[in-house]
Amino acid sequence: MNIVSKEQTERQPFELLRDQEQIAEKITMLGEEITRDYKDRKPLLIGILKGCVVFLSDLIREINLPLEIDFVSAASYRKGIEQDKNIFLNSSLSISVKGKDLIIVEGIVDSGRTISSIQEELKKLEPASIEVVTLIDKPASHRWKLDIKYQGFSIGNEFVIGYGLDNAQQYRNLPFIGKMIED
Ligand code: IMP
Ligand code: MG
Repeated sequence: MNIVSKEQTERQPFELLRDQEQIAEKITMLGEEITRDYKDRKPLLIGILKGCVVFLSDLIREINLPLEIDFVSAASYRKGIEQDKNIFLNSSLSISVKGKDLIIVEGIVDSGRTISSIQEELKKLEPASIEVVTLIDKPASHRWKLDIKYQGFSIGNEFVIGYGLDNAQQYRNLPFIGKMIED
């Protein structure tokens, strides 16, 4: 008997962009780079919730150094009918940042607004240094001047999900990176 699963009959609204093997390979490389660059230091990795969670948990296991982790979240709101959104840093940092070597960990950088606001806020706390690592970057979408030291995958102007990234809070648990497709 030929049993057709639900997955085979229902078309998914996304298609595969990067598989688990490609992601693991990329994260190993990023971890090696960070391990080399931060030799004899103890970086504090600050994850931006929620998109960072899967990436951060894999990345820290590829960094062969003593390190610390903490998290912040960024909320945006629209001022009236204005297009521009401001980013608020919801800081619940439990570790002192002053004098530390910070590495901001983001799942995806799009316009760059989130990363640049968070960098500004964290600079006020007088760390020794700040760098950024993102699993995915959309360089063509940047509207803020950015300095991203560690980039995993560079993609075009497409909306991606999985591996921590969501579309309306769904799909964060997909173990691969998918691209949303329109019907
Ligand atoms: P930015 O501030 O424009 O750089 O946007 C970054 C934030 O927007 C990320 O932290 C994500 O929450 C969200 N975002 C941007 N592009 C995507 C995408 O393709 N998939 C899922 N979330 C995205
Ligand atoms: Mg989101």
